[in-house]
Amino acid sequence: MRLSSTTKYFQNHCLKYYPKRILRWILIVLILLVFLSIITLLLDNTYNSSSPSLPLSSYMNLGSDTNSIFEKLHITKPNTIVANNNNDPLQSLQPEHAMVNHLFGQEEIDDLHAPKITWIDDNVWEHVPVKGVLYMFLRNEDLQQARSTIRSIEDRFNHNVGYPWVILSNQYLSPSFKKYLTKVVTKGRIFFGRVDRETWNYPKWIPTYHAGFFFHHPLMQNADYSWRVEPSAYYSCEMEDPFLKMKTLNKTLGFVMTSYEEKMAVRSLWSVTGAFTKQQSSDQIRPSNETIMPWLLNDSSEYNFCHIWSNFMILDLTFLRSEQYQAYFRFLDYSGGFFYESWSDGAVITLAAAMFLKREELYFFNEIGYEYRFGVHCPLSLTDYYPRCSCDVELTTDFNRDSCTISMLQYVDKHRIHDIAKFARRHLMIGDRARSLLSGF
Ligand SMILES: *[C@@H]1O[C@H](CO)[C@@H](O)[C@H](O)[C@H]1NC(C)=O
Ligand SMILES: *[C@@H]1O[C@H](CO)[C@@H](O)[C@H](O)[C@H]1NC(C)=O
Ligand SMILES: *[C@@H]1O[C@H](CO)[C@@H](O)[C@H](O)[C@H]1NC(C)=O
Repeated sequence: MRLSSTTKYFQNHCLKYYPKRILRWILIVLILLVFLSIITLLLDNTYNSSSPSLPLSSYMNLGSDTNSIFEKLHITKPNTIVANNNNDPLQSLQPEHAMVNHLFGQEEIDDLHAPKITWIDDNVWEHVPVKGVLYMFLRNEDLQQARSTIRSIEDRFNHNVGYPWVILSNQYLSPSFKKYLTKVVTKGRIFFGRVDRETWNYPKWIPTYHAGFFFHHPLMQNADYSWRVEPSAYYSCEMEDPFLKMKTLNKTLGFVMTSYEEKMAVRSLWSVTGAFTKQQSSDQIRPSNETIMPWLLNDSSEYNFCHIWSNFMILDLTFLRSEQYQAYFRFLDYSGGFFYESWSDGAVITLAAAMFLKREELYFFNEIGYEYRFGVHCPLSLTDYYPRCSCDVELTTDFNRDSCTISMLQYVDKHRIHDIAKFARRHLMIGDRARSLLSGF
């Protein structure tokens, strides 16, 4: 009854008396809808235009008329990358990281009850000799490995020193997760920080973060040295304060493992780096007789794909914060290779070290026992190894085909190769490759 009377009312009144008004309203709604979809489209385009849009190949036609050391490498001049060129594609390009909204850390909005800590106060370092930070980038699924790695560092060194930990993540870390990690840190404090969740969720972005952004995070801002710790890495020896060693020896980059990079992953990094050096004035790039650059060249003076592993690396952060390093990173960021080829942060930092650091600024931590994935380093030294380590020195991979460590030491610390050779001949069953690497020492 009621329904049919409503219908009747509608027929009698609305359609008969208000047809124009109804039509007008329909028209207004339609116009509004069209307007809204145009705005949505426009916004979409703005977003897309900030993603890398030029293929790397457009940077690959480089020339050959400068005096940088890349001259030898038959890399041609970067016609398309010359600064102040009106057709410069970089002018219209956004760097890859422009996709990121909150680069410099985010508050823990999910964790309302936790105190909001956005930077590390100086007094956190009052009881330690160096403003060092143990830094780990973490995802929820890495919890178990992260815990045992932190534990191994605490056990082997940090339990009686107490350097702070900084755990950065692109995911929400639950309070119980944090509690679980906090329990293994015995003396120092542990800080949790967030990096933009959506953007850095994509695994390809993680090397970009390690190479160019982590040290901008507010939690890292007061630190002088960072020690990158990778979940699932294992530290097998007692350690004397590595931060202090870096500082007293005036070292900038401390490492323990090197290897040949997967070629696909750094295919164009070398030539883009060559293009970068041509943009720089000659005093910006150190001559190769002062750097590890010769270590990176094969017999035909091209890149041999050696690089320093960054999963354990101690860095004097003034290096990454320097104008030179920042300029290099920006150049790479613009070129798109982090995204298209997943350039590894280890290779990027290695090439930066080869351009900007003196040989004596690098330090090989022979005394640190370290295991990560297929790599094992057990100290190649009698005094370091026997009293302090649980690793099996026969398993050390420093003499393997994919390691470049011994050839690096020719430039960085020749004296060390003598000690290693002596130790290896007396105490190890060494193969042909080790013998040839150590011959002459
Ligand atoms: C480190 O540098 C400082 C200042 O430049 C200098 O006094 C000191 O002797 C250097 N130490 C070493 C081990 O080279
Ligand atoms: C490197 O070579 C240049 C000349 O090419 C020379 O002036 C300089 O002293 C050399 N540096 C070292 C550390 O040998
Ligand atoms: C040197 O490395 C390049 C690739 O970077 C390769 O094409 C070339 O064959 C290598 N030369 C030698 C002598 O190994």
